[in-house]
Amino acid sequence: MKVLLVGHGAREHAIADALCRSVHEPKLFAIMSSCNPGIYRLCLRSGGKFFRGSETDPKFVADVAEQISADFVFIGPEEPQFHGVPDELWKRGIPCVGATEKCSEIERSKAFMRRLMWKYKIPGRLRFKAFRNVEDALAYIREYAESVALKPARQAGGKGVKVIADLKVYLSEEKRKVKEKHVIDIAEKHMKKYTDIEDRILIEEKVEGPEYTLQAFTDGKTLKPLPVVQDNKNAYEADIGPETGGMGSISGPGMLLPFLTQEEYDRSVEIVDACLKALQQEVGETYKGTIAGQMMLTPLWGPTIIEFYSRFGDPENVNVLPIMQTDMVDICEAILRESLHKIKLEFEECATVVKAIAPKGYPDRRDLAKGHPAHVDEKAIEEQGGKVFYGALDLREDGNMYTTGSRMVEIFAKAETIPEASKIAERCIPYVRLLDGWGLFHRSDIGSEVLLRRRIEQAELIRGVYQYRMQKGLIGVTIDWIPGRGKIVYEA
Ligand code: GLY
Repeated sequence: MKVLLVGHGAREHAIADALCRSVHEPKLFAIMSSCNPGIYRLCLRSGGKFFRGSETDPKFVADVAEQISADFVFIGPEEPQFHGVPDELWKRGIPCVGATEKCSEIERSKAFMRRLMWKYKIPGRLRFKAFRNVEDALAYIREYAESVALKPARQAGGKGVKVIADLKVYLSEEKRKVKEKHVIDIAEKHMKKYTDIEDRILIEEKVEGPEYTLQAFTDGKTLKPLPVVQDNKNAYEADIGPETGGMGSISGPGMLLPFLTQEEYDRSVEIVDACLKALQQEVGETYKGTIAGQMMLTPLWGPTIIEFYSRFGDPENVNVLPIMQTDMVDICEAILRESLHKIKLEFEECATVVKAIAPKGYPDRRDLAKGHPAHVDEKAIEEQGGKVFYGALDLREDGNMYTTGSRMVEIFAKAETIPEASKIAERCIPYVRLLDGWGLFHRSDIGSEVLLRRRIEQAELIRGVYQYRMQKGLIGVTIDWIPGRGKIVYEA
């Protein structure tokens, strides 16, 4: 059996690792724009091959798949989906695990996703406005003083989201200036290179609460959810600093997290499933691949969708694929044959922690974070009980690995509890370094007792509020008081 994997990050390394553990012993082939050392090694060991080239060029990917006679292709990241790579593969009769261009609209366009939720009345929807030009967005901000989340209307590598509380009249003018500046930043910085979408800026009602990611496999009919994971987006300890793609994540023990109840987990699955069904009805295509709801426990709804991924999260899938006991190739074949209902997903009963290590400069000055030679002592890391998943490192012909500007390595560790797994991951950190002396950073607080307690306390507070609202029939209902205009009730 031959499997072609598209993508070069730690998420794809975890997918490659799961495929290579299969009893079917597939030959692994990979298309990567830079050479991930972990995936490269798995390709060679399994008797496959690595192709350096564009991951988003449908013709190139389909030509390679034909050349190697791939049994199926697995698409890791979102951009190949947005560019129609799965569509070209299916057109040529090559089965593909990965959302088609139309299905991936659920991630690509945040406005599409919100409109879908309102049209199909899916619980957990937020009020929003989408703008096609800066002037209209600025005019809206000048008119309405309210707490908002300002976002690029397209998936823009997880960057450009700013949440602004605007609750005090005497600060409103200052807040307005911050909002205006960020709207301009979104248009001129974060959305600049994306010409494939008309909506440019999304203004959403602000919600607060602990976030978590619900990832799943789907064949379009059945949704098979994975253990829920919490990613930590801020670059620095104590949740401060710029937003990154994710500095590390926690899961377990089991399917839940210590701050999430079974009921909330089930509700989250129902919401993702409802969106999946609505999406397929809307676009008229079957979704075969992986999907993830990036969710938040909010006072307004309880489990609430913040964003969708038409793929697994990174680092989130690095928590769960290493402990998945079900055969990955069997899962992929069931997705392709639409028989996923027959698969039972099983996981080791443990807690996991993943810690990303990034060169200094990431995420805002990737130019500085790029081009540094790296050394990873995998043997020492394994002796400490951890496992390495390679990320933004390019293995070049001189045999050295060089940073490409993002999270270069993700360390996976498992234990009975999250804090124990965190301690194991911490012991592995010194075995990753840059040979030219350039600095690295990671978040030591991810998975710690202190941070975990904070998440639990925050969830308990929010649970109290949304359960009270539920009893009063106020779930999803927002009530504003505008001086001079009085009470405004926004029905769900
Ligand atoms: N961890 C966030 C993402 O995968 O986009």
